[in-house]
Amino acid sequence: MSLLRCEAVAKSFGGLQALAGVQFEVGAGEIVGLIGPNGAGKSTLVNTITGVHRPEHGSITFDGHEVTRLAPERITRLGVARTFQIPQPFHTLSVLENVMVGVAFGARGASLERAAREAAELLEFVGLADKAHHEPQALTIIELRRLELARALGSGARLLLLDEIHAGLTPKELEEARELLQRLRARGVTILMVEHLMQIIMAVCERIVVLEFGRKIAEGTPAEVAADPEVIRAYLGTRRAGGARAAGA
Ligand SMILES: Nc1ncnc2c1ncn2[C@@H]1O[C@H](COP(=O)(O)OP(=O)(O)OP(=O)(O)O)[C@@H](O)[C@H]1O
Ligand SMILES: [Mg+2]
Repeated sequence: MSLLRCEAVAKSFGGLQALAGVQFEVGAGEIVGLIGPNGAGKSTLVNTITGVHRPEHGSITFDGHEVTRLAPERITRLGVARTFQIPQPFHTLSVLENVMVGVAFGARGASLERAAREAAELLEFVGLADKAHHEPQALTIIELRRLELARALGSGARLLLLDEIHAGLTPKELEEARELLQRLRARGVTILMVEHLMQIIMAVCERIVVLEFGRKIAEGTPAEVAADPEVIRAYLGTRRAGGARAAGA
């Protein structure tokens, strides 16, 4: 059974049709890549799944629950976590405490003692154990993203939505990120990831959904998508000025 299902999801901003009937599913345990040229609607789709935007049409179900018009915090409670392009930790808490908050107040809830233990394990998992007692200000941007990931896992998230978390990484950092994603896969975490870096997408995603101008233009394995003429056209055609097309254009 699919964990996430989007059916005919449409969202517009004024006259701009950012999502025009998007349909796809993510199965439990899958890592699915969401790609497409700038302005294709990827972040809008993530924001719509997480309840930040309400679609005008269509339906989104998570684990059998209709979440289309639920408030973001209700969707989070059901087990959907997202990371932000700019992480927003609690600056007055330590790195460990930030993760503890996720564990203690997340979908499952936990005693403080258990939260501390689980948070320490998660920091180990994401490679931040040595920063547990630092303040978030002391972390690099990559470390902050790892902190966010630990927080999301700690809150009991069953679906992670990652929006361009690998932008601006060095080759070594990318290699570490790829390795972390493989370990997430081994843990059985379900991920929908927006990513411009094809090397990451090709290495970790079993399936890819391609958007262009708010529409799904292709879907398949990395090899299928990479060879798809529509995808090649969409990517080669992005050098012209402007992002998405206005509705009806
Ligand atoms: N809050 C908003 N208000 C008005 N227009 C918006 C808003 N958010 C997104 N858009 C527009 O919707 C379209 C889709 O934007 P979106 O950010 O979803 O694209 P994207 O695929 O994430 O692009 P990128 O790869 O650049 O991050 C764009 O034309 C964008 O300008
Ligand atoms: Mg985006």
